[in-house]
Amino acid sequence: MDRQELRVLQLSDCHLPGPGGGVLFGVDCAAAWECVVRHLRRLPPPELVLLTGDLAHEGDEGAYRRLARTLTGWGAPVFALAGNHDHPDRLRAVLVEEGVGVGGDVELAGWRLVLLDSVRPGKTAGRLGEAELERLEGILASDPACHVLVALHHPPVPVGTAWMDAMGLEDAAAFWEVVDRHPRVRAVAFGHVHQAFEARRGKLLLAAAPSTCVQFRPGGRRAETEPLPPGWRWWELEAGGAVRTWTERLPRAGDASGARLAAGGGSEGGGG
Ligand SMILES: [Fe+2]
Repeated sequence: MDRQELRVLQLSDCHLPGPGGGVLFGVDCAAAWECVVRHLRRLPPPELVLLTGDLAHEGDEGAYRRLARTLTGWGAPVFALAGNHDHPDRLRAVLVEEGVGVGGDVELAGWRLVLLDSVRPGKTAGRLGEAELERLEGILASDPACHVLVALHHPPVPVGTAWMDAMGLEDAAAFWEVVDRHPRVRAVAFGHVHQAFEARRGKLLLAAAPSTCVQFRPGGRRAETEPLPPGWRWWELEAGGAVRTWTERLPRAGDASGARLAAGGGSEGGGG
């Protein structure tokens, strides 16, 4: 690798539909995904693609297969974790078969990416539980040379959007008890909230990716959409441990499909 930094592309909350198609809050999620992928695949591939959950709206097998096949072949390894809308077993079976890494952890260019499972079957809110927290502690306690990015679906902090914060990570305190003991955790990446969110906790940077389909209004008290195009997040992880992150969206002008896809509105229930 020529560059000194590792460039990670985070894609989240794609909500790909099954064969019947699917419109979420007025946005055609499959069409939005195609536009996002077409836009991104014109760029040089990142060193790694990270998918942070809610990949298929109803856990449809064909949706996982389509998602994998639009990403593999780009030249970047792809790693995924599940969100509350996913069917975790089906996600794992299909994505692994298609060459996508699911869960676990991976070391790349002096960084270790740890993918955590925060999904509770049948629940919208998340919980890591003892086993997942012990796995995280075990990874952080070994291999001290690596800087660490932790990824999960549910936000481990309130994001200031009341209805989303009510369905966040239930054992966030236990998560921070582990992470705060290990200063080499430099970044925490998550999805679920369908908005660009960034915060700091000491030297640690935590951030949510926008959704590749519908966007929720930051600060909303109920499920309200924001008329913004589909988006994604870049992470630049330097060999020395510094982290830069920013979001991008499909252009509004000059990309009619992007503007059209962002035209959703309303306040239907069942988001995240
Ligand atoms: Fe979602």
